[in-house]
Amino acid sequence: MGVNIVLKFIAIIIASVVLLLNFPGLPPTQEFTAFHVEPPKKLEGWMASNSILDQAELYYEGPHVGIESMVVLDDNNIITGDLSGALFRIIGKQKAVNITHLEYPCSVEEPHVNSDHERKCGWPLGMRLDNSGNLLTMDYFGGLTKVNLKTGKYENLVPKHVPIEGKIGHVPEDVHMAKDGSIYFSDGNTNPSGDFNEELIGQPSGRLLKYDPVKNSVEVLLDDLHFSNGIFLVDDESFILVSEYGRTGVRRYYLKGEKKGQSDYFVDGLPGYPDNIRSNGRDGFFMPLYEPWNEQFSMRNHVLSSYPLLRKLVFRIRFLLLTILRQALNLLPNNAYLIDLESYIKGYGPLLKTLQGPKVATVVELSKSGDIIGVFYGIKGDITELSQFSVGKEYGYMVSPSNNKVWRIRLEELKGQL
Ligand SMILES: *[C@@H]1O[C@H](CO)[C@@H](O)[C@H](O)[C@H]1NC(C)=O
Repeated sequence: MGVNIVLKFIAIIIASVVLLLNFPGLPPTQEFTAFHVEPPKKLEGWMASNSILDQAELYYEGPHVGIESMVVLDDNNIITGDLSGALFRIIGKQKAVNITHLEYPCSVEEPHVNSDHERKCGWPLGMRLDNSGNLLTMDYFGGLTKVNLKTGKYENLVPKHVPIEGKIGHVPEDVHMAKDGSIYFSDGNTNPSGDFNEELIGQPSGRLLKYDPVKNSVEVLLDDLHFSNGIFLVDDESFILVSEYGRTGVRRYYLKGEKKGQSDYFVDGLPGYPDNIRSNGRDGFFMPLYEPWNEQFSMRNHVLSSYPLLRKLVFRIRFLLLTILRQALNLLPNNAYLIDLESYIKGYGPLLKTLQGPKVATVVELSKSGDIIGVFYGIKGDITELSQFSVGKEYGYMVSPSNNKVWRIRLEELKGQL
């Protein structure tokens, strides 16, 4: 009798799982595959811990957060932008002049933004100059944008809302022009929901793309990147690097030679989740880690990475629970217990930790062959969640999309360690 009930119970569970995994149209509908996140390499000596970035000074504090990228033309000549859509030039300590405001329709997929059609939004992310001195930037709302820095006029080269090979890139990330005028750029996430957390623990879907301005066409070079972030086209254009936030590594895509069209890992096992890649002023790279991966903290997206069916099941159960909870909240709108439960499930409970990162700054220096040759930390807590480190003549400059500040540090402070 008892055994019978247990068997029936197991049968019902199995039948539910099979039904959930095969139910047509229930999101997420895309195929889930196994992925691998290489745990952090063991770092030795000063690279394991230091507080070098704490020598940085606050250089500029603006009215708006969202300073994700910048072009450092020189010390005291920096082009950057923020979440108000403003593009501005910093011309000295705490001195800036606006260049223009990017204005695109506010995307309906952004819950913090009204979905009415009148309102305009702009948020320039990755930026670099093109070969004629115009600014290229990936606007969060608009996509690939070219800006004349003298007149402030701008042109939407590749609009975000137009699908490329059937998919929309939800997070336009970074851009780099080749000598022949073609433009490489990255999309963070093309999952149907556009959800960042779904990208991290669900199915990697970021892309590396190439825009041909003559044919006005876009080619997809890689489409399985784990939240593709910063890119870097090396000087001889033999390969292009793309950082993969969710995989704590940097992919190298070959543009020339025997391996043309193939990719491998330039570096992985980083002690955190990488962002923009910029020159270190010699022949290597500086790349911040937006959040660290150490004994105290990891995003945990690697935990279920080998079990695609289990991950898909989690997502479908989550979808059903959220649907039920939304109905329940319609009946009991202010029920604190239901509200807490909803935010717990939305945040994937114990499966993912994206928001509670420790208050540290991390910048990795890589050699031209991908070896980690420096790791610089800030531990005071004022500098966190860095997205880019760019060098001028005497200073290195740091920005963070969650902040309204630009910090700078004398490059000597970094070289002292090497
Ligand atoms: C630039 O524009 C922003 C609005 O996006 C405004 O808040 C800021 O004061 C302007 N800065 C200057 C220097 O005019």
